[in-house]
Amino acid sequence: MGKYRIAVLPGDGIGKEVAKGAVEVLKAIGTRFDHHFEFVYGLIGGEAIDREGTPLPDETLQMCNESDAVLLGAVGGPKWDHNPPHLRPERGLLKIRKEMNLFANLRPVKFYDSLADSSPLKAEVVKDADLLIVRELTGGLYFGKPSERRIESGEEVVVDTLYYKREEMKRIIKTAFELAQKRNRKVTSVDKANVLESSRMWREIAEEVAKEFPDVELEHMLVDNAAMQLIRNPKQFDVLVTENMFGDILSDEASVLTGSLGMLPSASLSISGPSLYEPIHGSAPDIAGQNKANPLAMILSSAMMLRLSFGLHQEADAIEKAVQQVLAAGYRTADVAKNGKHVVSTTQMVEEIKARILDDSAIL
Ligand code: NAD
Ligand code: IPM
Ligand code: MN
Repeated sequence: MGKYRIAVLPGDGIGKEVAKGAVEVLKAIGTRFDHHFEFVYGLIGGEAIDREGTPLPDETLQMCNESDAVLLGAVGGPKWDHNPPHLRPERGLLKIRKEMNLFANLRPVKFYDSLADSSPLKAEVVKDADLLIVRELTGGLYFGKPSERRIESGEEVVVDTLYYKREEMKRIIKTAFELAQKRNRKVTSVDKANVLESSRMWREIAEEVAKEFPDVELEHMLVDNAAMQLIRNPKQFDVLVTENMFGDILSDEASVLTGSLGMLPSASLSISGPSLYEPIHGSAPDIAGQNKANPLAMILSSAMMLRLSFGLHQEADAIEKAVQQVLAAGYRTADVAKNGKHVVSTTQMVEEIKARILDDSAIL
């Protein structure tokens, strides 16, 4: 019997709804496979601002650092959109990524046969697409200083800085090559080397790292072309590696292959400490509180946690199989339902997944 301490940060909006679903699914895994998961809860984002006056209280960070892994729902919402920068919910998310050294954000994009009709793209384009976006998460434009407005010669100007150390680029690119070795051995390094000096250094480092991985093919692609290729012919890709903001944008785009943003999980891996697992979507204020959100991105993130942080492969497989079976049986949250047919709520979807995990005859 394994014992694991999991920090849960539900956050705001649908973050709360999907985090609750993932915890229930993990409890079902604990029952089925005889593990003890201890869940400890912390504040982050808008709710933390309202209750503690800061988007990432110190107690939350300490609790996360003392856990075996962290599950995060989502942060943000219109209520805090006009707050000063240091009191925005998103600041809490950026801070926890930086403080916990979560440098590598793995965003797998997997096509499910039964959702072929849910994507606006043609089934023959998306069928069998299976790619992994490796997004740098603690550097680049999101963290460069200065990031400010100021007055220059009587005129208002603004500056955001794109800053990377060579080592920061090297470690994320290396991570992508290591992951590609376990997949289809192809890395597409995405940059804007025709314009940005940072991208020219990125490309140079990618070439250097590639020499250490002769079994992995490296290609370079400009980010604007990559955005187009992702929906024109996604099957050409295996692992894409890119800087923080490019990865943010391309992964939301890539979610369209699967039918919904609500399908994409992610793992934010730490250099040394505990890792964090979060869906790629946000707090979805337009559907929050309506029991409509697709919980699968969060549930699949918890499967990534079992696999990558705890080495519980059979247990992770059980969750992934349950998701596959529930979709194949026709259960759909509103975001992936075709013509609004057979729509289930967030909680019903969670119940269906749990039922399959707990049913001895259904899985394994
Ligand atoms: P969003 O991802 O919250 O929503 C975009 C669209 O996708 C919405 O129409 C939403 O209803 C839909 N959607 C997202 N997740 C879904 C799910 N699980 N099931 C069904 N539909 C889903 O992005 P946004 O609207 O641009 O941002 C809303 C807030 O969330 C902002 O405050 C933003 O900063 C924040 N945000 C947070 C995170 C995070 O915490 N990791 C990520 C992205 C955005
Ligand atoms: C994500 C989100 C965040 C990001 C925001 C909320 C800071 O969009 O996790 O993809 O841009 O990284
Ligand atoms: Mn994003």
